Amino acid sequence: MATRVVTVFGGSGFIGRHLVRRLARRGWTVRVAVRHPSRAQFLKPMGHVGQIAPLCARVEDPLSVQAALAGAQAAVNLVGILYERGRRSFAAVHARGAQHVAEAAAGAGAEALVQVSAIGADRHAEAEYARSKAAGEAAVRTAFPTATVLRPSIVFGPEDDFFNRFAAMARLSPALPLIGGGRTRFQPVYVGDVAEAIARSLERPEAQGRIYELGGPRVYTFKELMEILLHEIRRRRLLVPLPYGMAELQATFLECLPVPPLTRDQVRLLRHDNVASSDLPGLRELGIDPTALEVVIPTYLDRYRPGGRFNRTAAV
Ligand SMILES: NC(=O)c1ccc[n+]([C@@H]2O[C@H](COP(=O)([O-])OP(=O)(O)OC[C@H]3O[C@@H](n4cnc5c(N)ncnc54)[C@H](OP(=O)(O)O)[C@@H]3O)[C@@H](O)[C@H]2O)c1
Repeated sequence: MATRVVTVFGGSGFIGRHLVRRLARRGWTVRVAVRHPSRAQFLKPMGHVGQIAPLCARVEDPLSVQAALAGAQAAVNLVGILYERGRRSFAAVHARGAQHVAEAAAGAGAEALVQVSAIGADRHAEAEYARSKAAGEAAVRTAFPTATVLRPSIVFGPEDDFFNRFAAMARLSPALPLIGGGRTRFQPVYVGDVAEAIARSLERPEAQGRIYELGGPRVYTFKELMEILLHEIRRRRLLVPLPYGMAELQATFLECLPVPPLTRDQVRLLRHDNVASSDLPGLRELGIDPTALEVVIPTYLDRYRPGGRFNRTAAV
């Protein structure tokens, strides 16, 4: 029997590596479409010889997207950015990039497409990140009406940006900022659950054409998340409230750094809760029991404890 081919745009990233492993285990042949295929070679041992193939594509470049999708039965778009740099704008990557993937998937005759967006995607949002995610969803819906859209809250797991970033900050700094007082609410979702949701969405006809919002079992304020983090890494740090206006001012300067730790757009995002809507289906409708934060984060944050083996590489 011919194997089914899926092209995963952004398959070498945080969520992508967990997804690629799962898809390979389910028997898919996986093309990993990224700008730097050399950095995706580590994925190959997750499958048998030839099952996982990194290739070069940029979602901004429709021809490279078409080539990556030729002959594929399914596609996943995981490409996203947290800040803009030159021509790598939110509009180019989140909106037009998603459109290129959906148009090429339709042109290739693919049967399923999963577009990974984010909670808060809204064309009227204050933050350009959220507006561009909504524009991407709309473009996908037009080009590929049966696509499934998944909107996760913040995603946690061994290579996450959120907990690792604040844990690293807490190793060096006596205080952590609580932007807007730390009252913004989040529903962190485990990366393994997000990967499973994507894999099931590709394979289940009932997921076609639907939007799912993916959150974990509990909602926490930002301040509560920082308290859990500090407890986990066994460090006492001051939690200092930082008004939104002050945070935006700081971000104006931080945006000049090559990898900005905070941007004004991110401060605008923080003004709104990041919690799954009760009006939309979520993990449970896909048959997934959400994994608790408290079960997973000790497995990778222990290296930030005093005397922890900081250089230990986390396993996928
Ligand atoms: N992580 C979270 O907490 C979270 C929460 C909500 C939503 N999401 C969404 O989930 C998706 C995946 O997030 P992630 O955290 O896994 O991202 P990530 O770790 O930053 O990975 C991004 C991936 O996209 C590739 N990529 C970047 N720009 C590209 C381009 N122009 N063309 C083709 N490939 C490109 C990167 O590889 P190269 O650099 O080699 O190109 C990498 O494989 C994103 O859309 C994000 O907005 C994430």
